[in-house]
Amino acid sequence: MSARKIIIDTDPGQDDAVAILLALASPEELDVLGVTCVAGNVPLALTAKNARIVCELAGKPETRVFAGCDAPLKRKLITAEHVHGKTGLDGPALPDPVMPLEEQHAVDFIIESLRNEPSGSVSLCPLGPLTNIATAFERAPDIAGRVQEIVLMGGAYFEVGNITPAAEFNIHVDPEAAEIVFRSGAPLTVMPLDVTHKALVTPERNAAFRALGTPVGRAVAEMTDFFERFDKEKYGSEGAPLHDPCVTAYLLRPELFTGRHINVEIETGSELTRGMTVADWWRVTDRAPNATFMGDIDADGFFSLLTERLARL
Ligand code: BDR
Ligand code: CA
Repeated sequence: MSARKIIIDTDPGQDDAVAILLALASPEELDVLGVTCVAGNVPLALTAKNARIVCELAGKPETRVFAGCDAPLKRKLITAEHVHGKTGLDGPALPDPVMPLEEQHAVDFIIESLRNEPSGSVSLCPLGPLTNIATAFERAPDIAGRVQEIVLMGGAYFEVGNITPAAEFNIHVDPEAAEIVFRSGAPLTVMPLDVTHKALVTPERNAAFRALGTPVGRAVAEMTDFFERFDKEKYGSEGAPLHDPCVTAYLLRPELFTGRHINVEIETGSELTRGMTVADWWRVTDRAPNATFMGDIDADGFFSLLTERLARL
């Protein structure tokens, strides 16, 4: 079987970095057409730089990296340096990238790829606010119907929120964009906090990354060391959640995840609950299902997949 074509839309972010590494470590299954960057965890200039740092760390400087939208559709950007550090990739000491940033805008690249590749052959993997994807869908209404699948990290139901009491960061930052994507009709698979909060980097799992003894293994261990400190304090858990790699792991081993095909709507009006993913988990409405909303993960299987693949880089 030929490798599945994907576009990773991202705001690295240490966990984004691990998600990208996992994809680049799996060329037999995943053909990364491009990495498109968006403002999120840190401003766009840094996410576009960090994405290239990660591609070079993976030994894949030929990967095409594009810069996209520098602010949400209708709101001021909210960033998360308190979690990810000033650079967005605090932790390991990694060199500045030498590989170029593509000149084309990320949104144009997304539109062009979906139009040029056969319909139903390209999947989108958003790991940050959905601004680039929503802008592409707004500008080119023909492309949503050509998407094979959108697999995204964002939202929460039982876990509710991490950036506000009601909302998860990626959706909260650009709820209008999320609304466009969730209503686009494209097949949608969602990795919410309900799943990612079960993907905890315990000391043993972190030690397994470090024990790879490679630059990638050490960098991943140091990245998780860094951003763990915030979540460990907040949740009192043994390790911090590794959110975004759940998306790439799903593409490789979907059987590690279980969820429900349900209706999910985005709150855009209320200041109090802005960006809440109102998931009809219990199917108490007659609203049509628009997303497969994951609820559980085989965490041991996830971490062994991750460690085994990172070892290949
Ligand atoms: C999401 O927000 C970001 O901080 C992480 O990179 C992840 O995509 C988790 O809420
Ligand atoms: Ca992210």
